[in-house]
Amino acid sequence: MAKIPHRLYLTEDQMPKQWYNLRADMKQQPDPLLHPGTHEPLPEEALYPIFCEKLAHQELDSTTRYFDIPEPVLDMYKLYRPSPLCRAYNLEKALDTPAKIYYKFEGNNTSGSHKLNSAIAQAYYAKEQGLKGLTTETGAGQWGTALSEACAYFGLDLKVYMVKVSYEQKPYRKAVMQTFGANVTPSPSNTTEAGRAILAENPNTGGSLGCAISEAVEVATTHEGYRYVLGSVLNQVLLHQSIIGLESKQAMEMLDEYPDIVIGCAGGGSNLGGLIAPFMQDKLLGKADPRIIAVEPASCPSFTRGKYAYDFCDTGHVTPLARMYTLGNGFMPAANHAGGLRYHGMSPILSKLYHDGYMEAVSAKQTDVFDAAVQFAKVETILPAPESSHAIRCAIDEALKCKETGEAKTILFGLTGTGYFDMSAYEAYHNGTMTNHVPSDEELQIGFDTLPAQPE
Ligand SMILES: Cc1ncc(COP(=O)(O)O)c(C=O)c1O
Repeated sequence: MAKIPHRLYLTEDQMPKQWYNLRADMKQQPDPLLHPGTHEPLPEEALYPIFCEKLAHQELDSTTRYFDIPEPVLDMYKLYRPSPLCRAYNLEKALDTPAKIYYKFEGNNTSGSHKLNSAIAQAYYAKEQGLKGLTTETGAGQWGTALSEACAYFGLDLKVYMVKVSYEQKPYRKAVMQTFGANVTPSPSNTTEAGRAILAENPNTGGSLGCAISEAVEVATTHEGYRYVLGSVLNQVLLHQSIIGLESKQAMEMLDEYPDIVIGCAGGGSNLGGLIAPFMQDKLLGKADPRIIAVEPASCPSFTRGKYAYDFCDTGHVTPLARMYTLGNGFMPAANHAGGLRYHGMSPILSKLYHDGYMEAVSAKQTDVFDAAVQFAKVETILPAPESSHAIRCAIDEALKCKETGEAKTILFGLTGTGYFDMSAYEAYHNGTMTNHVPSDEELQIGFDTLPAQPE
């Protein structure tokens, strides 16, 4: 067989035309979204004031296995997809490992991350429904950037609530969003009731994703012609991100390869859920048994130290309840934590799969994550996002285990984005001021105390 190339690009024609809905193959379904007052499962129509109708449907549809990707979405995907499946020959050599390391690189677009895959879909459905605009939150800024791009393309207004610390630390992210026409407000703000309430309690707060979600949902539900969109956690977002895994599997098949280990970083779970989707399908159907590993920050350890419980998706308690691994909606990650992966909860689909033993999770300290980022950048010549570097850390660790045992395992990880807007974190790493914070059990308890009463 011919030598495996450094980068394999599928052609436009080979790009998947459907998204894959993992829930259709899960015998044990994730628990339903509940109304916070009545604890009754929410019907589709109850979501219409928040989400546009097609997305509300995708959120609750657990039986349709494949959804056609609408033609206008495919057209915009073609501006940056299919994304390359890369063979990390240089990293393998540097590690002197017999392991074969592959990564799927999703950073090759202006937003710099995988977030665009769902942003395009969500903006398209909003436009199709005749809406005026969308509201959203953004933490580190990648989601806001991606959605700004998609809204500009489809001609929609966009209001972004950006976590205040990131707004202040990453002024250029804001400028990119503004370039695409978005209106960006630091959160918490005094433009919403939720924001004013949070500020009254804690005027100096740097904000959190949970706060920003409350503000964005409030604005969507009080402005005619607007709906709210979220860049992770939700079932619909994992559905759209399945294109990452579908392309990866197709490319690996062309190379006669199949991963022994699939690794992804986990914030709210969207890239991980997308990357693993077709491999998890094989696992659920008993066709293959790859190890699947989620990697999260030690400072925000939803899977590894969280509780599997019903919780609000936001701090202001305006969202439905979702059953997921959570640190409690009042959890605040340490201020020294760089980049994303700061969300208190986790995708209900991945939470269920983890709870049922289909996947593993590990946590990594941020200095160890940046060690891996720098090692990777030097040999593979891509500057990785801090979030993605969690997956790199784990891939390197697994490859080094192979070196010990002499096994030539095939490792696939998700390289979700580039880190050009994270240079202050890189700088802190280089000048030795980056620190680690691993919350104590007592600190975590503060977050757990904010969990709502659990349904009977
Ligand atoms: C580059 C990148 N990777 C990963 C993530 C984590 O999000 P998710 O778990 O939804 O993939 C983010 C979130 O901001 C991101 O920007």
